[in-house]
Amino acid sequence: MKHRVFSGARPTGRQHLGNYLGALQNWVNMQDDYDCVYCIVDIHALTTLEDTSSLQKDIYEMTLDWLAAGLDPKKSILFVQSHVPEVMVLHTLLSMVTPLGWLLRVPTFKEKAKIQPQNVNYGLVGYPVLQTADIVIYKAEFVPVGEDQLPHLELAREIARRFNNLFGDTFPEPQAKLTLFPSILGLDGKEKMSKQLKNDIEIALSPEDTIKRVMTAVTDPARQYRSDPGHPEICNIYRLQGYFNPSQVDALADQCRSAKIGCVDCKMLLAQKINSNLEPFRERRAAFAAKPQYIKDVLADGAQRAQAIASETLSEVKQKMGLI
Ligand code: AMP
Ligand code: TRP
Repeated sequence: MKHRVFSGARPTGRQHLGNYLGALQNWVNMQDDYDCVYCIVDIHALTTLEDTSSLQKDIYEMTLDWLAAGLDPKKSILFVQSHVPEVMVLHTLLSMVTPLGWLLRVPTFKEKAKIQPQNVNYGLVGYPVLQTADIVIYKAEFVPVGEDQLPHLELAREIARRFNNLFGDTFPEPQAKLTLFPSILGLDGKEKMSKQLKNDIEIALSPEDTIKRVMTAVTDPARQYRSDPGHPEICNIYRLQGYFNPSQVDALADQCRSAKIGCVDCKMLLAQKINSNLEPFRERRAAFAAKPQYIKDVLADGAQRAQAIASETLSEVKQKMGLI
């Protein structure tokens, strides 16, 4: 039997290069060798969203990106978290074996509490418990994610271990799986690429808009004049060249260090490489966008298949906890 993989992403709408290189690439590549379950975590999104009016549209846009990137509903289960409510029951049950101190220490909780001091809700504290429930309800062993998720995965292992110790061996301890690009910087060159920080490049942009976005990127701040030598090792554009332009990346580093190439030319080259690399993705996306009913069907079928697994695990957990 194949090992199981689970991963999820918040329905932030169109995916950016960080999502694509940090997570989606692995999701697509793991489909042949693993039994994969990929989830649009709409309940998690509610921990930070006060205005939910675009939620359905964001779910739809994200599904288009996933399918166009190569997630195949014949191979993998693709579904929306709230369509399988069993996970919320498991979340409540796991919350009983999770010390509050563990949750208050999680770096993402502290960050979010700083970003939204007016909305430090109960769900935000329990975010990693719901994430653990997501993973363990499918008994997943591997979780392909970006680097920012490692503290959540550490906690998921601790919660699974504690449950197993208290109630008998039930859940595998899930391991993170990183890509070669586990943390993509945003256009500001400082923070990780993120929709919330508005420093992202969406993969579904038009070629013209991709060029415009890439041109706004901050590169090496020490390089003020075209004749100044650059430092590719600290430049986010250089890192992206590593993925989109691997055959030229070493030469570009030399040319940057010796000021033979300027940042404008380097960015233009990158934007063109991104556009040619993503052209097939963008064509597939347009084809899926013409079939909205198909998208709905994929998610409905995914929820059914996910629920069959989730309800079985939930019964086992209830039995072990003495509830039935
Ligand atoms: P999110 O959109 O934050 O729900 O993230 C979905 C997936 O993309 C998660 O596995 C994240 O770790 C990954 N991810 C998000 N932003 C980045 C980034 N800037 N670099 C690498 N991976 C990322
Ligand atoms: N916390 C993840 C993020 O922000 C999303 C997520 C929810 C997730 N449940 C998950 C990721 C389970 C992996 C496994 O991107």
